Amino acid sequence: MFKTALIIAAATISTGAIAQDAEVSVANGERISIIGGCHDCHSTNYAETGGKIDPATALKGNPVGYSGPWGTNYAVNLRLVVASKSEDEWVPYIKTLQAGPPMPWFNLHVFTEAESRSLYQYIKSLGDPGDPAPERVPPGQTPKTPYIVFAPPVMPQ
Ligand code: HEC
Repeated sequence: MFKTALIIAAATISTGAIAQDAEVSVANGERISIIGGCHDCHSTNYAETGGKIDPATALKGNPVGYSGPWGTNYAVNLRLVVASKSEDEWVPYIKTLQAGPPMPWFNLHVFTEAESRSLYQYIKSLGDPGDPAPERVPPGQTPKTPYIVFAPPVMPQ
């Protein structure tokens, strides 16, 4: 009896969550971009300003590189990625995306379709795509931009 009540309560919670999640909106997209950590790397000065989203630079990419054994990678300009795709192309793109370190591409694979569409609409709403982030620098070459060394001083075996 008690057990049944618990199960019903759990079912109610998850149905509620799904209903909310199914809503596609720019506001949800903004929230997903924050929770998903996209600004942490793809927006300049986001971490430095304690998480302020600057409409002039949000998700336009970051000229500070991430260096490691892979060379130096730059968080790309996501406004340009969105500008190059339709919303219908974006959904499968995000589901199957793979990218170099430290991009956590695997996390994006769990987005629901509504989350993915909301994120697309939010990025699109930011306006002028602007310029690309710097090109990748191959291993062994010194980048001409500032960069963060993104590797442990001693690599795991
Ligand atoms: C820890 C830093 C970091 C976080 C967090 C992060 N990214 Fe990235 N992202 C990068 C870097 C660096 C690259 C470039 C990787 C490369 O050069 O292969 C990248 C690449 C990408 C690409 C591939 C672009 C292309 O043209 O290949 C997409 C799309 C992308 N990120 C979307 C996102 C989204 C959406 C989020 C939030 C849900 C996010 N990223 C969170 C660092 C990050």
